[in-house]
Amino acid sequence: VIDPIPTMEWTGRGLRLLDQRRLPESEEYLDCRDVETLADAIRTLAVRGAPAIGLAAAYGAVIAAMTTDPGEGFAAGFGRKLDLLASTRPTAVNLFHCLRLQREVAGESAGGPEVTGLLLRNAHRLFEEDLEASRRMGRLGADLLEPGCRLLTHCNAGGLATSGLGTALAVIYEAADRGILEMVYADETRPLLQGARLTAWELCHAGIPVTVEPDSAAAALLAQGMVDAVFVGADRIAANGDVANKIGTYPLALAAREAGVPFYVVAPTTTLDPDTPSGEGIGIEQRSAGELEVFGRRRIAPAEASFYNPAFDVTPWRLIEAIITEKSLLKGSEEGLFSVDSATD
Ligand code: MRU
Repeated sequence: VIDPIPTMEWTGRGLRLLDQRRLPESEEYLDCRDVETLADAIRTLAVRGAPAIGLAAAYGAVIAAMTTDPGEGFAAGFGRKLDLLASTRPTAVNLFHCLRLQREVAGESAGGPEVTGLLLRNAHRLFEEDLEASRRMGRLGADLLEPGCRLLTHCNAGGLATSGLGTALAVIYEAADRGILEMVYADETRPLLQGARLTAWELCHAGIPVTVEPDSAAAALLAQGMVDAVFVGADRIAANGDVANKIGTYPLALAAREAGVPFYVVAPTTTLDPDTPSGEGIGIEQRSAGELEVFGRRRIAPAEASFYNPAFDVTPWRLIEAIITEKSLLKGSEEGLFSVDSATD
């Protein structure tokens, strides 16, 4: 049984994050005791992955309440701090979901220890629900697998991206526990290398065999019959089942379809966005040219060039075998998502 990864921990005075910018070279922790530090941590990917961003923001609301003077101006000051958290990254819907829930908890309160306590209790509840959802998704996903399976994943949809167990990696951990996993192929995930730096780090920690490959090798690997199924996470799932996830997910789904390999998305129901009809309506974060111009300390492209650096792409529902949530397996369609199986306990 895999121990949850200490992605984040409430210390009583703030939120302690395992600084994912430093992995795998060093395991360092970042203490966030004000909302500005936490917002910067989210923006710069010290904490990242849709569920983890949402949970960090839920704890951020507690920090916001602790650092805003109670009284008449509390609601406005608290609201501005939550707006700052909401402005960090646009694509993962979990961020907005968690902030909405915390705004509801605070209501018209004038601040003080009571509302801070309620916000903290709610953040802990969301954290525990995410852990439980991971366990369920892991079991539902592993039920789809045969002994000796070889799986491919993209980016990091692991413990680091959640409260500690992951979504796509929860399936992989469960398959390893059941003794049916032969190999995990991890796309390195250009440009920020979440696959090489984070997924491989997690899996090595857990003693699970992992092979890192450049993103550009995935189609060839699939075509050669080296992969039995692809499992990825999601940042936002539109009402019709279109899925926004890390850039490079869409070409992976195309390659899997061409090779006849099933392509699964694993995400908790907190990643569903029923208010966005299809993938076209999902706002895709554009990141800086700096992430493409240099590799380590070395310039790898002329500064005169233009750069296109979207953080996410959209995979149409047609390419997705099933979306595995903690409740059931879903399939997309023109008419919306529908359940194809019900969850086991
Ligand atoms: O830019 P990131 O690292 O936050 O992107 C993360 C992803 O795309 C993950 O696949 C997604 O958030 C799902 S995490 C369970």
